Amino acid sequence: MFNHLDLLPADPILGLSQVFAKDKCSDKVNLSVGVYQDDRGNTPVLDIVRHAQEIMLDEQTSKAYIAQAGDPGFLSGMSELVLGPIAAKLTVNNRVATVQTPGGCGAVRIASEVINKCKPGGKIWISTPTWANHQPLVGSAGLTIAEYPYYDRNTKTIFFDEMMATLGQASRGDVVLLHACCHNPTGADLNTAQWDSLAELCKANDLLPFIDFAYQGFGQGLQEDAYGVRKMAEELDELVVAASCSKNFGLYRERVGAMIFIGNTSNATAAAKSHALSEARRSYTMAPYHGAGIVGYILNDAKLRADWETELADMRGRINGMRKRLFNGLNQAQSSTDFSFIGSQWGMFSFLGINVEQVLELRNKYGIYILESSRINVAGISDSNIDYVVEKIAQVAN
Ligand code: LMR
Repeated sequence: MFNHLDLLPADPILGLSQVFAKDKCSDKVNLSVGVYQDDRGNTPVLDIVRHAQEIMLDEQTSKAYIAQAGDPGFLSGMSELVLGPIAAKLTVNNRVATVQTPGGCGAVRIASEVINKCKPGGKIWISTPTWANHQPLVGSAGLTIAEYPYYDRNTKTIFFDEMMATLGQASRGDVVLLHACCHNPTGADLNTAQWDSLAELCKANDLLPFIDFAYQGFGQGLQEDAYGVRKMAEELDELVVAASCSKNFGLYRERVGAMIFIGNTSNATAAAKSHALSEARRSYTMAPYHGAGIVGYILNDAKLRADWETELADMRGRINGMRKRLFNGLNQAQSSTDFSFIGSQWGMFSFLGINVEQVLELRNKYGIYILESSRINVAGISDSNIDYVVEKIAQVAN
């Protein structure tokens, strides 16, 4: 049977880490996959996660199934975390439904299936560029993909006018996939005025925003990063959000995510949720409990939540501090490119703006792994490797 299959190429992001693992270079640095590392190059289990996990396991008396939509504490905690005070207002009117998913990917995929049920083969607009897995996730659900310009590689800023002009041509009922914050792969985020204009456009032209919220708290702060999502939730009758707890809780391998549907009536919202549950049932039945349970404990206890916010702020501070050190170092070490743009971007990623040959030189000669697009994971830079990373990038960029 399997002889009929062709061997597929490795995943462009995850596959590179496999190559990195086998690299014998003693100075090697992995700046490819989007995983946070501390100053010693480790991706630690957060203290708060260890603590909440102990409490959870201590209190756990059964491994029986949880509710099909997920752990109730996780679901209410996540809708409040993502939507803020608007969550309570929408909950009173039964206009918001949250369903636990296996990671943010699970949320993007299942929510795409639900959208495709509403409008089979409907159009979804994705940013150019976007995260490499967006197209496979939404495309596999049957949606038709169109692209809007997003990042200007020359100026290293957002093509906002071009983006608005393109989306202005979209048809009523089209879906717009957006990154809430820490745009992956560019790190270039919409500012509040741009979110306001976009919300106005979506409302006027009846476009459905579908917001991928994978990095809440990794950019400017938990509340600041949610500005666009909350603006859309306030202004529009309908919204879909795919949230992930991989990064902000460091729960990558536990696969913790949520999809949030806001509908214009309670019946429409309930129907969207029922389709999400049915899609999940015919795929994996329900999301795993362990990681979501931990998040539920943290979000529903004031002390645990405060401790989590402190640890999250430390991670964010380290990334933002490393951005400064990186661009200052690069600007001092070479003169052909001004890397200051790295300091005005957010989250783990930025494009260095170097070409594929230069990317391969970094990888093959110096063991520094970044994606071919020149996407770098700033969170992989630490005290122990920053001098080496700066020196080698400056060398190939010059
Ligand atoms: C990334 O973009 O590197 C992360 O989101 C990990 C992944 O699954 O691609």
